[in-house]
Amino acid sequence: MKTILITGGAGFIGSHVVRLFVNKYPDYSIINLDALTYAGNLENLRDIETQNNYQFIKGDITDIDFINNLFTKYNIDGVVHLAAESHVDRSIEDPMAFINTNVLGTVNLLNAAKESWKNFEGKRFYHISTDEVYGSLGDEGMFLETTAYDPKSPYSAAKASSDHFVRAYHNTYKLPVVITNCSNNYGPNQFPEKLIPLVINNIKNKKPLPVYGKGENIRDWLYVEDHAKAIDLVFHQGTIGETYNIGGKNEWKNIDLVRALCRVMDENLQRPNGESEKLITFVKDRAGHDLRYAIDCSKIVSELGWQPELDFENGIRKTVDWYLENEDWLEHIVSGEYENYYKQQYNNR
Ligand code: NAD
Ligand code: TYD
Repeated sequence: MKTILITGGAGFIGSHVVRLFVNKYPDYSIINLDALTYAGNLENLRDIETQNNYQFIKGDITDIDFINNLFTKYNIDGVVHLAAESHVDRSIEDPMAFINTNVLGTVNLLNAAKESWKNFEGKRFYHISTDEVYGSLGDEGMFLETTAYDPKSPYSAAKASSDHFVRAYHNTYKLPVVITNCSNNYGPNQFPEKLIPLVINNIKNKKPLPVYGKGENIRDWLYVEDHAKAIDLVFHQGTIGETYNIGGKNEWKNIDLVRALCRVMDENLQRPNGESEKLITFVKDRAGHDLRYAIDCSKIVSELGWQPELDFENGIRKTVDWYLENEDWLEHIVSGEYENYYKQQYNNR
């Protein structure tokens, strides 16, 4: 029996990874460690929470004693580390929270693994990171695994720092690590501070759709379950010490993406064609807004045989359907802390 610690498993991507591992590997014991910050939500895991191979532990990765005790108590074979502060706009308001969780929290986990794993045979520490560590592209080019790091926001600087520590632990102590850097995810259970669920929620409620600057920034979007499948593959078959870029081969200008969401929502809600586009509102740009991200994922494609499976039109439709069918999920989040955050971010833009 293998014991796998998944951190941040109550969050957006983490919950999809936990579900995949719990369902696919009945012989594993899956521990979901999550602090349940504003972004952590156990409602994401209702369908699997009673399975025998799953347990949830509430805890903070910045708490050194707690993390060390956890590694002493459980015989952990592998770590899939997703816990992080993940939203760029929040990082601009409060960088320290990002340094604490993303940097210190990651180093706590690395240290605990190093200390408790006297023998590294069969062990694996998998760190989940972002393409944002590579900085911002112009019209041309794509991020490769060899692209020099050039993080531009407090969020990406903290993630870059954590990536460096993971590599340093491999280089210095031979800790068996793998890292992936993935492009923007979308799909069910994403907290509605991020562009796609925020736009869906606002269209539903006929609220303005805040597009930063001119809406010309470009992101490469990947359906979250395709990311979870890539994580499964890299965790089991990726080469120790290696980095793999993961992307959707799916670049969209923000304004075109928002218009596509308007079209799908109008169809779904049986509103007249063009109705939701009227809600688009150009607002003050994000400080230091990265222009373009684009991932070259040919390494994971050729070495591990991964491919993004769901095309964007169907992915967007599935996502919209999910949010419209799960009104309770959205309402539980939107009433509460998120309401204050939303007012603070958008009232003065
Ligand atoms: P999220 O914000 O939805 O979830 C983060 C989870 O981590 C939450 O459940 C939260 O409660 C937990 N958490 C936060 N601080 C913690 C702490 N101190 N201790 C324990 N748990 C804590 O994030 P996400 O979008 O699911 O991203 C997951 C990971 O994937 C992050 O490491 C992020 O950098 C990375 N990533 C995200 C994207 C994306 O598009 N969302 C793309 C590439 C990489
Ligand atoms: P986001 O979902 O926050 O992801 P990231 O900043 O990590 O890429 O934003 C995606 C893009 O959408 C980014 O270019 C910023 C832009 N954006 C808006 O135009 N309006 C919004 O309200 C939000 C949240 C984002």
